[in-house]
Order: sequence, then structure tokens, then C-alpha cells
Amino acid sequence: MALLPSFAFSKKAETIDELVEMYDIRSCADCHEDKYNEWKTSTMGNSVADPRVLRGMRTFIRLALDQEKSMSRGDLTICLNCHVPQIKDASAELVLRIGDMVLIAVEDKDETKKEAAKKELAKLNLNCLGCHNLAATGPKSQPKEKMIYGPRKLEDNPHEEIGFQTGKSDLLATSEFCAVCHHCPPDVPWKECPTLYTSYMEDFAHKGHKETCQDCHMQGEKLSHKFLGPNNPDFLKSSISLSVNARPTRYIDIYENKKMPVVVVKTELTNNAGHVVPHGCAVMPRMHMDVSVRDQDGREIFSNRKEFTVGDLYFKGGKQVAMAEWDVTATEHVELGLKPNVPDRNTFVIPLKSDTTSATVEVTVNYLYTRDETFTMQKVIQKVEIEQ
Ligand code: HEC
Ligand code: HEC
Ligand code: HEC
Ligand code: HEC
Ligand code: HEC
Repeated sequence: MALLPSFAFSKKAETIDELVEMYDIRSCADCHEDKYNEWKTSTMGNSVADPRVLRGMRTFIRLALDQEKSMSRGDLTICLNCHVPQIKDASAELVLRIGDMVLIAVEDKDETKKEAAKKELAKLNLNCLGCHNLAATGPKSQPKEKMIYGPRKLEDNPHEEIGFQTGKSDLLATSEFCAVCHHCPPDVPWKECPTLYTSYMEDFAHKGHKETCQDCHMQGEKLSHKFLGPNNPDFLKSSISLSVNARPTRYIDIYENKKMPVVVVKTELTNNAGHVVPHGCAVMPRMHMDVSVRDQDGREIFSNRKEFTVGDLYFKGGKQVAMAEWDVTATEHVELGLKPNVPDRNTFVIPLKSDTTSATVEVTVNYLYTRDETFTMQKVIQKVEIEQ
């Protein structure tokens, strides 16, 4: 290891401000204002301050680090390595202090202290140098110090004046680049580590599709640094198509000796994304398809919910590893998501009362992003008249 020059710094950062200074990106904003502004509002620009992430880290400290004999608070680097790759240049004390701040930011009763901790933690994120240096050459090779890696080979050296060389990384424009953080490390066997990237490869790329993560999430040539995700309403809506076909008919009821009205509802839900949706490690995010039918008086006469979710659960007696509940390689994978090109088709046969004159069928697909944020992905309403 000693042979490899690291990006680094002989001195470790003792404070968050020192760490921010080491990976200063203020100059990038001067010349790449658009990329900076897009990135700043993306989840990558908030990869610690995101309330979901703060809660996740709080719970990891309380339920794993503080309870597992083989672990200690310093092991918060397990999470920070991907969420703030710069953390490798933080001192051990700083990592402990970040952990304390996470607890304050989530749990403290004093709102002022809470806000102050959140503000401090918001200085940490996955920034330009996290991707264009630290992660740019992949998990197996060390990036060169003071080098900005880009997707092209540039003739001139536009970064000379800020003390950086400019280099080409063939990885950056590929899906494997995103997999550096969106998949398990390469030494973990493929089958033992099902992630969103596994789904991308098996359900999409191997089925003949050519689009990369960048094509969709960075909007192709635009190379948008918003890294569009489910919290962008248009992008989210684009991920599924819903078709509904509601028809009235009759069936013969031999018990009542009558022809009875019935409405038949067919739904077809198609995933247009490049991988299973929704995808997350916890029970969030989730997707619900709700079908309801009301009569002419607005009374609900039928309702049905179908859930889509992907997650990892640990059962007693599974593999003997530390942190079993937290380690995707030690858990049982629950795959109840919607795969690309495998439409979910349902038929509902809903008997009506003989005096029903009309039925209003409503099909809604909702995306539960967090406990407090639900987005509507699709909604179709169809009214059918029932012949008397
Ligand atoms: C291998 C890199 C990696 C590691 C290690 C990692 N994360 Fe993440 N984390 C990600 C990526 C990538 C996403 C976004 C993926 C997504 O939303 O599907 C994410 C998203 C999240 C989210 C929000 C999305 C959700 O599914 O709830 C939380 C919370 C989170 N991480 C917490 C943690 C905690 C706590 C740890 C440490 C135990 C951790 N992460 C370790 C890469 C990582
Ligand atoms: C999550 C990783 C990530 C982060 C964070 C990130 N970038 Fe990028 N950036 C990429 C990738 C990937 C590409 C190349 C995509 C391709 O060519 O398909 C790229 C391309 C670029 C390009 C070339 C655009 C072009 O038109 O050729 C510039 C300039 C750039 N990034 C600047 C920045 C700046 C400035 C920041 C910080 C504000 C930043 N990036 C943050 C991943 C990232
Ligand atoms: C003095 C202006 C200036 C500053 C400061 C600057 N850049 Fe650039 N950068 C350029 C120019 C000019 C180009 C080449 C034309 C283009 O792609 O916009 C470029 C290109 C790039 C590319 C694309 C390289 C490729 O292969 O296409 C990336 C990535 C990048 N810069 C990242 C950064 C990051 C990260 C920072 C901050 C550490 C930064 N730049 C600071 C001017 C600047
Ligand atoms: C250095 C690690 C890293 C790399 C490389 C990386 N990501 Fe991420 N990504 C993360 C983390 C960490 C999060 C979670 C941030 C959060 O939830 O606040 C995330 C979140 C996301 C989200 C939002 C998920 C959500 O639940 O809202 C999308 C979309 C995404 N990444 C796409 C990409 C794409 C596309 C690439 C490749 C161009 C990429 N990422 C490369 C670490 C990375
Ligand atoms: C064909 C377009 C397409 C491709 C290719 C694609 N995605 Fe997505 N992705 C989407 C859409 C649309 C969504 C929003 C729907 C959703 O989140 O359910 C999404 C959602 C996500 C999310 C959020 C997951 C969730 O449900 O919270 C992450 C993270 C992500 N993609 C990462 C990636 C990565 C990494 C790759 C490459 C390995 C990739 N995507 C390839 C279109 C694509």
C-alpha cells in the first residue's frame, strides 16, 4: 500500500471545516456554475443532511454500534465512506464527533442545538471531488492526487490555475461508475449481494437495453448534475405507465335466479426505468396500487391494495456475521418490486347490487418516499354506466 500515492494529506482533519477546506469546491462553482447549482439541490449534495440519512445513521449508532460487542462508535465510517468519501482524511476524533452531532441533530430536545448540529453536518456531502477524484477510478485503483478526472481527453489543461491536472477516466461515463457506491464492493460474490445495480444488469442490460444510469439520471447529453431521482415529480412519473380498462357486464346468479350487474376492471402497470422499482434497503420506499369502486351515491363498494417493495430481512439462524441485520450480504432478499418489461396485470371482477346505476373506478399508484412524503405517480378514473 505504501507504494501508492494517496490523494491525501499527511495531516488528518480535526474539524469539519478543515475537512471541507481539504476538498474545497468553491472554485469549481466559479467556472461550472450550472453544474454546481444542479448538484447542490441533488440528493448527492445533501448526502448527510438528508433527514432520512441522519435518522438512518442515528439508528445505526444506537442499534448496531452501541450494541454489537465487536463494534464501536468509530465504525460510523462504514456509512460515511459512501455518503462522504472525503471522510478517509478525517481524524478518528472527528469521526466520533460527527457521530455525536448526528445524535444531537436527530434526538436533542433543544431545537436550537438540533438546528446547529444539522447546519454543521450539512457541510458534509458527496461533492465534485468525491466523484471526479476519489470515486473516479473505481474501487480497485487509487486516484492520482490533485487530479480532476473527466469523461473526455482534453487537450489544454483548464485546471492549471487552481493547482489541478485534468485526466480522463473511462469509468465515469459507464454504469459501473455509479455501482462504486450503488453496489457492494467487487470482492463480495455477485449472488450474495442483490442491489439496484444487480437488477439493472439482470433485468435490463442483459435483456438487450443499452441505456446507462447516466442516460436516464443525468438526462443524456445534458449531463445534468441534478441526478434526478424519485423526488423529482416528472422523473418519477416517467418510470411507470398505467392502463385501466373498466367494463360493465352481467353474470348469472343461480342462487338468486337473476342476472346480476358486475364490473370487470383490468389494470396493467409497466416499469419504464432501468431496474426494479421501488428500491431501498428499509421498508421504504414503497409503491402502492389502490383500486377502488364507488356506486352512484359515492359509497365505496370495492377496494384493493397491491404493494411493491424490495428489501432485506434477517432471520434467526442465518449467517453468523456481525451486524447481520445491517449487512445485505447476510440477509434474505425480499423481491416484491416491479421489474422492467414484466408488466403487472390484474383483473378484478366486482359484483354490484341489482339497483346500481353507475360505478366509478379509480386506480391510483402512490410512491411512499419517506414516512412523511407520498407522491402520486399515476391516477386514472373511469365511470361506467350500468344498464338496468
Ligand atoms: C456502498 C455505499 C454505501 C454505504 C456503505 C452506505 N450507504 Fe446509505 N446509501 C448509499 C446509496 C448509493 C444510497 C441511495 C440509494 C437508494 O436510494 O436506493 C443510500 C441511501 C441511504 C439512505 C436513504 C435511502 C433509503 O433507502 O432509506 C439512508 C437512510 C442511508 N443510505 C443510510 C445509511 C447508513 C445508516 C449506512 C451505514 C450503516 C449507509 N447508508 C451505508 C450508499 C451507501
Ligand atoms: C455523483 C457523482 C458526481 C458528482 C458529485 C459530480 N459529478 Fe460531474 N460528472 C459526473 C459524471 C458521471 C460525469 C460524466 C457523465 C458522462 O460523460 O456520461 C460528469 C461530468 C462532469 C462535467 C463534464 C460535462 C460535459 O459537458 O462534458 C463537468 C464539467 C462536471 N462533471 C463538473 C462537476 C462539478 C463542478 C461538480 C460539483 C459541483 C460535479 N461535477 C459533481 C459525476 C459527478
Ligand atoms: C478557471 C475555471 C475553472 C475552474 C476553477 C474549474 N474548472 Fe473544470 N473546466 C474548466 C474548463 C474551461 C473546462 C473544459 C470545458 C468544459 O468542459 O466546460 C473544464 C472541464 C471540467 C471537467 C470535464 C473534463 C472532461 O473530461 O470533459 C470536469 C469534470 C471539471 N472541469 C471539474 C471541475 C472541478 C471538480 C472543479 C473544482 C475543483 C473545476 N472543474 C474547476 C474550467 C474550470
Ligand atoms: C461516491 C458514491 C456515489 C456514487 C459514485 C454515486 N452515488 Fe448516487 N448516491 C450516493 C449516496 C450516498 C446517495 C444517498 C443520498 C441521500 O439519500 O441523501 C445517492 C443517491 C442517489 C440517488 C437518489 C436516490 C433517492 O432515494 O432519492 C440517485 C438517483 C443516484 N444516487 C444516482 C446515481 C447515479 C446515476 C450515479 C452515477 C452517475 C451515482 N448515483 C453515483 C452515492 C453515490
Ligand atoms: C431507463 C432509465 C433508467 C436507467 C437506465 C436507470 N434508472 Fe434509476 N431510475 C429511473 C427512474 C425513472 C427512477 C424513478 C422511479 C423510482 O424511483 O421508482 C429511478 C430510480 C432510481 C433510484 C431511486 C430508487 C428508489 O426507488 O428510491 C436510484 C438510486 C437509481 N434509480 C439509480 C440508478 C443507477 C445506479 C442506475 C444504473 C446502474 C440506474 N438508476 C439506471 C430510471 C433509470
